[in-house]
This record gives sequence, structure tokens and C-alpha cells, in this order.
Amino acid sequence: MASFHPDSIRNDTNSLTLSRQVMIGTRDTDFVVLMNSIACACKLISRSVRKAGIAGLYGNAGSENATGDDQKKIDVLSDEMMVNALKYSHVCAVLVSEEQDDPIIMPESLSGKYCVAFDPLDGSSNIDCNVSTGTIFSVWEKKSTGPVGVVDDILRAGNDIVCAGYCAYGSATELVITYYGSGVQRYTLDPSLGEFILTANNLKLPEVSKTIYSINEGNYTSWDKPMRTAIDGFRLNEPRYTARYVGSMVADIHRTLLYGGIYLYPADEKKGNGKLRVLYECFPMAMIMAKAGGTASTGMFKGTVTNLLDLVPKSIHEKVPIVIGCHRDVDRVLAHYNTSA
Ligand code: AHG
Ligand code: MN
Ligand code: MN
Repeated sequence: MASFHPDSIRNDTNSLTLSRQVMIGTRDTDFVVLMNSIACACKLISRSVRKAGIAGLYGNAGSENATGDDQKKIDVLSDEMMVNALKYSHVCAVLVSEEQDDPIIMPESLSGKYCVAFDPLDGSSNIDCNVSTGTIFSVWEKKSTGPVGVVDDILRAGNDIVCAGYCAYGSATELVITYYGSGVQRYTLDPSLGEFILTANNLKLPEVSKTIYSINEGNYTSWDKPMRTAIDGFRLNEPRYTARYVGSMVADIHRTLLYGGIYLYPADEKKGNGKLRVLYECFPMAMIMAKAGGTASTGMFKGTVTNLLDLVPKSIHEKVPIVIGCHRDVDRVLAHYNTSA
């Protein structure tokens, strides 16, 4: 699949499209509709990202989102694309978006069995200088029994997620998903066909992870002592690690998934809960990493170290620190908290 197949581009009679792969994996038509709706929104967002400069989409919209970030024009647009695709799919009960203060509860006439939390355009501060961005999402099945969903249908543990994924808008547009216990699948958008094509099935972290650490070291002096010591260890001890930090979570996690290593956004003096949001940034990435053979932790947070997927958030835009990647490196960081306890 990964090797060069020029014929498959010229004369493809057996295309491994996303819809086909999902239909192989399930007979649940609601899930097929859900995945098609998410994929369609990702294609729309991808097109907007690719044409942002031409279409006058650089710059701020002049508003703030629920967590106080300036909204870019393209954040607002991407949010509308996701909401409309999901709303009219008729398979969603509750939607949570980074760009909307409140959860969206679908009216009975539109309501279905899925609850979706999403970051429509992660890393959008990078858009104006043409650096990678992405869309991130988690899906739960509605558990309340009334005709419409409630917010508690989505304030759930990461372990209850039935589908997690992200779409990276980088040099190519790539969708990475896991659903209903399946392995991690990687798809690449074929722009000439307008379809996502399977490029890796049951993706696993490399057996020997590269020695890469990824963290915003501008925050170094604000971290706690064990975190500073852990990062010093990557820089100073043998083997010495190399640093990579795009500043777009999707790009940094995509690299970590494919090359190995570790990504961190810890708590610091100014940001006691870290920066990244539980429902639509940390949970989906933690689920994908776990299914690929890696792990994700909160690091030391409120006096304890917790597996990220065990958390149950109390509010929809809650933030949490994250330490995510291969076991070798995550364990290496967490060991500093055991020794300092
Ligand atoms: P968003 O653009 O959705 O608000 O998310 C930005 C996030 C994430 O993409 C990235 O990893 C992180 O912010 C970078 O934060 P710093 O600039 O503090 O390093
Ligand atoms: Mn984000
Ligand atoms: Mn965002």
C-alpha cells in the first residue's frame, strides 16, 4: 500500500476509500453516515485552508471563543462546516465545539445516537503563515434514554469513546481514525478523486521510537521541578533527544504517531490545567495513541498521575495537562514524579 503504484492512480479498479473501509468494518448505517459527514466537513475545511489566502480568510474574526482565544475567520467557517455536516446527518444528539460556548442539543426531529466533540480547526493561529493545522474529534454513543440528548451524554470518560480521529491539513490532507475497538487507520485525500484513500491499516508506533521530544520550551521556567528535570534529561543525558515543536497539536501528534517519541503540554504556573481541552483535543489523541501502542497521561495533576482516558470532565471546555507518546518516553517523564513524591 505504501509503495509507489503509478498504475493505481491512472487506472484504479479497487480503490480503498474511507466509505468502503467503514462499510467493511460495520453494518451500522448510522455510523457510515456519521463518518461520511465528518469526512465531508474535513474536505470542505481542507479546501478553505488551501484557498485561505486567495479567499481573504487570513486574520481574526474579531471575536473570542469560550476559552478566551481570538477566533480567526477560518475558525468560524470551519465550525459552521462541522456543525452543518453533523446536524443534518440526523445521527447526532449532542455536539460540542471549541468555537461554541454551549453544547448544541439537537431537536428531536434531527436527533440521532451519536454525541460528537470537535476542535474544527486546531492550530489556526498558524494559518496566516501557512503552517499545518487540523480538525480533531471524539464520538460517544448517547446513553440517556429521552428523545433528545443531554450534556451528560458527552461529559464522559475517554474510555467510553467509540470513535476518535483527526484530519491533518499539511503537505497532504490526511485523516487518522480508530472506531469501535479497531486499529488506527490512516487515509490520504486524493484531490483528483475527492476521496480519502487508505494508506495504512492498523498503524502502530514504530518499534524503536525516534528520540524526539516535543514541548513549548518557552514555558520552561514556569514548569514544576520534575518536569524541568525530565526535559533536561532529554537534552543532556544519553541518548540525547532532538526537539521538534510545530505548535499545532495535530501536526505534533501526527509526527509522534509516525516517528515515535513524546509530546507534552504540561501545567505551568500561569496555566494550572495546561492549555489543551479534554473532550476534543486530549481525549481523541489519547485514544488514537493507545490504539497505536502508545499511552497518554495527565502527568502530575491535582496531586495525582492519571491515565488520560480515565478522566471524566465536569465541563465541556475543561483543560488538562497532557504527556503522550511511546511508553519508553512517557514512563521516563512520569518516573520523575515518583522519585519526587
Ligand atoms: P487552537 O488553535 O485550536 O486554539 O489550539 C492551539 C493549541 C494546539 O494546536 C497547540 O498544540 C497549542 O495550542 C500550542 O500552544 P503554544 O502556542 O502555547 O505552544
Ligand atoms: Mn486546538
Ligand atoms: Mn481550534
